[in-house]
Amino acid sequence: MLGVTKEKILVTGALGQIGTELVEALRDKHGTSSVIASDIRSVKEQKTTRQGPYVTLDVLDTDSIIKLCNDEGVGTVYHLAALLSATGEKNPELCRKVNVGGTISVFEAAKKCSLRVFSPSSIAVFGPDAPKHAPQITDLNPSTIYGETKVRGESLAKEYLENYGIDVRGIRYPGLISYKAPAGGGTTDYAVEIFEAAINHGHYECFVRPDTRLPMLYMDDAIKATLMLMDAPNDALGPSKAGYNIDCHSFTAQELADAISQEVDGFKCDFAPDIRQKYADSWPDSIDGSVAKEEWNWAPNYDLQEIVKAMLDGLSEEN
Ligand code: NAD
Ligand code: SER
Repeated sequence: MLGVTKEKILVTGALGQIGTELVEALRDKHGTSSVIASDIRSVKEQKTTRQGPYVTLDVLDTDSIIKLCNDEGVGTVYHLAALLSATGEKNPELCRKVNVGGTISVFEAAKKCSLRVFSPSSIAVFGPDAPKHAPQITDLNPSTIYGETKVRGESLAKEYLENYGIDVRGIRYPGLISYKAPAGGGTTDYAVEIFEAAINHGHYECFVRPDTRLPMLYMDDAIKATLMLMDAPNDALGPSKAGYNIDCHSFTAQELADAISQEVDGFKCDFAPDIRQKYADSWPDSIDGSVAKEEWNWAPNYDLQEIVKAMLDGLSEEN
């Protein structure tokens, strides 16, 4: 639309685990009115602390995304709407529809409205045949539907860059640990749920084996990485820009439980693996983030002890 500058930011899937904190961080950085939060869910579910522009938006509705971007002068989209691994494996059709269809929808809007896009990937792109310390570049043969959709998301990002010059950037997020919003139905949710259970019940029944080792990151670090990647000069970024591995931490479920036991007297964790064990076993133990380090200088701040302290302090303040 004539006269509308393209400075605003749209966040899809903004009521989720990452969106809840990314919207806050973006509003701190760019101003509240510059960041439009959106989700398929109703705003009534939004926490009162997160005030600012909000629209109900289904990412499959390309026309509405285009209209919103044109009307509001949106120049950048952080596309977080998706189904995570555990929910996705229960409903593969919906997972493909939302994760792949929603991404195409956002990229089509990017084509029409000249948008920059952040579109996250996941450690779920790796399959059981990948090295357990996963390099940036290796064959991607995930055994989960969710993982397939994330591999497709990375390929689509490359296609839209090559064919239409769309600047799409992504991070292969590891399991993210946070307390401001519940985890959204993933395999790594145990590393989030365990904290609330420890504080409120002194006990957690963990749905993966104690020796399950996965890459993990505290949400503050994930948000910092996201903003750093989006601020990085384009000419510093190489062919991995659609899905960077980033340096993070690697610990087992038992090591996490032990670290919490050191802070919460009497905390006990039992282990009763379910179907999510299979998804966790198909993913790497750790990831090599050297390309992200080289290209945009990424390093995390929080180690395991600091994550445990931040989580327990944060949850105690909220209670
Ligand atoms: P989440 O499940 O907490 O939030 C996703 C949001 O998307 C939800 O609020 C949901 O209502 C919304 N949504 C679902 N379908 C929609 C639709 N059709 N239109 C609009 N909104 C819709 O997920 P999250 O943890 O915040 O993850 C965000 C992104 O990061 C996803 O792409 C996910 O795959 C990726 N990721 C997350 C993690 C993690 O540990 N949280 C790790 C790796 C990658
Ligand atoms: N944390 C996510 C999940 O478990 C990985 O993408 O689904």
